[in-house]
Amino acid sequence: MIEPWWQGGVLYQVYPRSFADSNGDGIGDLEGVTSRLEYLEWLGVDAVWLNPIYPSPNVDWGYDVADYTAVHPDLGTLGDLDRLVAEAGRRGIAVLLDLVPNHTSIEHPWFRERPDLYVWADEVPNNWRAAFRGGSAWTLDPEREGYYLHNFAREQPDLDWWNPEVRAEFERILRFWFDRGVAGFRIDVAHALVKDRELRDDVAATDEDDPHTRAHGIRRIHSMNRPETHEVFHAWRRLADSYEPPRVLVGEVYVLDVPAWARYYGSGSDELNLAFNFALVHADLEAAQMRHVVAATEAALPASAWPCWTGSNHDAGRLTTRWCDGDEALARCALLVLLTLRGAACLYYGDELALAAGHVPPERVVDVGDPPRDPARTPMPWSREGGWDDPWLPLEDTSRNVEDERADPGSTLHFTRDLIALRRTLPDLRGGSYAELPAPEGAWAWRRGEGVSVAVNLGSRPVEVAVEGRVALATDRGREGERVGGGLELAPAEGAVVTSG
Ligand code: NOJ
Ligand code: CA
Repeated sequence: MIEPWWQGGVLYQVYPRSFADSNGDGIGDLEGVTSRLEYLEWLGVDAVWLNPIYPSPNVDWGYDVADYTAVHPDLGTLGDLDRLVAEAGRRGIAVLLDLVPNHTSIEHPWFRERPDLYVWADEVPNNWRAAFRGGSAWTLDPEREGYYLHNFAREQPDLDWWNPEVRAEFERILRFWFDRGVAGFRIDVAHALVKDRELRDDVAATDEDDPHTRAHGIRRIHSMNRPETHEVFHAWRRLADSYEPPRVLVGEVYVLDVPAWARYYGSGSDELNLAFNFALVHADLEAAQMRHVVAATEAALPASAWPCWTGSNHDAGRLTTRWCDGDEALARCALLVLLTLRGAACLYYGDELALAAGHVPPERVVDVGDPPRDPARTPMPWSREGGWDDPWLPLEDTSRNVEDERADPGSTLHFTRDLIALRRTLPDLRGGSYAELPAPEGAWAWRRGEGVSVAVNLGSRPVEVAVEGRVALATDRGREGERVGGGLELAPAEGAVVTSG
């Protein structure tokens, strides 16, 4: 393993209920993940991030936590988690959990026993809006005769991060898992923890605000995105760095304004280690847009910081559908982009197969979100038969599956695996700088370090890109080994890594 693994590493997001089922109850579980570590090692990923595994009434499928230091019985036991961490460690794979510090489940004992840990008001104090089911972010609790804040569903009360006891509780939770060998955390809604102390109204949005900040027509500068949140991550980074090896903090910093997003890295070594780059998630798979996001990211980040690129997740959907409308050649281009930019990359389970969104008929929808996010959360197709017995979400299309793609060296699975392997064999690809190269309209090209160039044609016309060397890896596998003299010709939906010399 290259140290520290996360800097140019490949993360792999596992949605535990949908990855692999060890006991045939139709729900993926921790033992299922352990049983598939051989696959993940073969694929070559550095780390696995598990969506929340804690006891939860599952109003928001684990993002409503009822106990931060236990495992949901559907998914297994603490012992299963320990075995997963140990077995992954033997295979050189780090395990990250998902921390949900903004809110708990309304069924967390704290809500009744320690109400002071939450945000309360006697009357609805402001215009803040709930993300799920719409309406005010304040709900009356008849028992307490006061209103509690919930930025998400009313079953997800927000914690009060001005209360030092909340901070102390979360430091205990971090230590609990770090002491068990967990390598780090993905931090849910990392930009939202601290709320305006005076609970002031959010302000009216303008057309210049990024679409996420201006959700519901308001610019969320008081209900979230508060500068005081940075102090929390300063403290956590000190804690994470006090472990050996240092533990890693990956933020779900859902901020599309790139300079504001970059601030969550602090000086580059004193806040989050990584933050998902949602500006790229929200860009189209289009050269001009993506090039712009990457240039802005490189300009905004402190010199020692590493971006974290992703194209799919359990909220936004699958890149093969979102970006590529199911087209496999385009999905390879997207994977090529994610895995050859400077920084860490995060694949969502199934991305490596060019898996498209699942079909979930209305009567099977279980998500609280609107539109429902279930199509991004359907079971992993392990074989043409699926590999599942009556799964919790339907698995209809198994045409792209692990067994078939693993047996076919020309598959997207092999393409992804070879790309990940190339990051290890070419230090420039894993750790070198990023510099944009000139490219015709529709195409995008960049150099990594001194000796590696990448070019991709995301447009609809053939192009020629001025790079030289030898094709080390290409979306059209037949081109590998080709010598490039004057320029690299690329058909639409084609891309390649070219090494000099
Ligand atoms: C972001 C998570 O990824 C999403 O699934 C969840 O619904 C919200 N945060 C609330 O926790
Ligand atoms: Ca199971």
